[in-house]
Amino acid sequence: MKNKILAGNWKMNNDISCARQLLTQLIPLVKESTNTVVACVPYTDLAVAVELCRGTNIKIGAQNVHWASSGAFTGEISAPMLQELGVAYVIIGHSERRTYFGETDATICMRIKKALEYNLLVIMCIGESLAQRQSNQTQQILNSQLSLGLKDISSSQAKNIIVAYEPIWAIGTGVTATTQQAQETICYIRKTLSTMFGENTAKEMYIQYGGSMNQTNAQELLSQPDIDGGLIGGASLDATKFATIANYNK
Ligand code: PGA
Repeated sequence: MKNKILAGNWKMNNDISCARQLLTQLIPLVKESTNTVVACVPYTDLAVAVELCRGTNIKIGAQNVHWASSGAFTGEISAPMLQELGVAYVIIGHSERRTYFGETDATICMRIKKALEYNLLVIMCIGESLAQRQSNQTQQILNSQLSLGLKDISSSQAKNIIVAYEPIWAIGTGVTATTQQAQETICYIRKTLSTMFGENTAKEMYIQYGGSMNQTNAQELLSQPDIDGGLIGGASLDATKFATIANYNK
């Protein structure tokens, strides 16, 4: 049995003093967790978060990374910069990046390759809109996000990629996918990964569910055979709620 990977996505929340407070509360609450616990914090919190969580079972992640190692890219942060800080994970291709910042499958693919080159574990987000689900395009959309976003990625590289299935209509809305929808869709994602990377690699890969996961619905979602964890936004801003999810135990 795999353990689960529960990652908090703080988005653009928590200045340094709030980050300190939240992590200080969280550390003792998840110290017995048998899962992998990750906090993906804003860039400005990274150094403090890494320092605070050193020697604990909380790993720190960033929320994006550029596709070049350095250069004239005002406002961007590179993979070697994250690596230097001791960051372990990075979210790439979140739907908010795709929607508000023009992120495409092609730029996502370039960012993933650079992150892997610097030994960062990638949380790659994919997911369909409500209109796409209602017009039965979910599988087609996920298929294209996976094949373009993971173009020319090898099976050994794929093992360092966690896929987060986040239906856009469930993010920050309080509307969670039903357990059955989440399980079915993630099972489809695993089949697609199996075609791309082989069955063994696809079995080893982690696929998370994200979108209004909270302390109440997490247990049921995480007990599904194909759901290997969660990417948690809103509920990760509260130490007690996030700890309840992170301490999931079958
Ligand atoms: P949510 O966010 O849990 O607030 O819906 C999830 C995400 O965007 O990663």
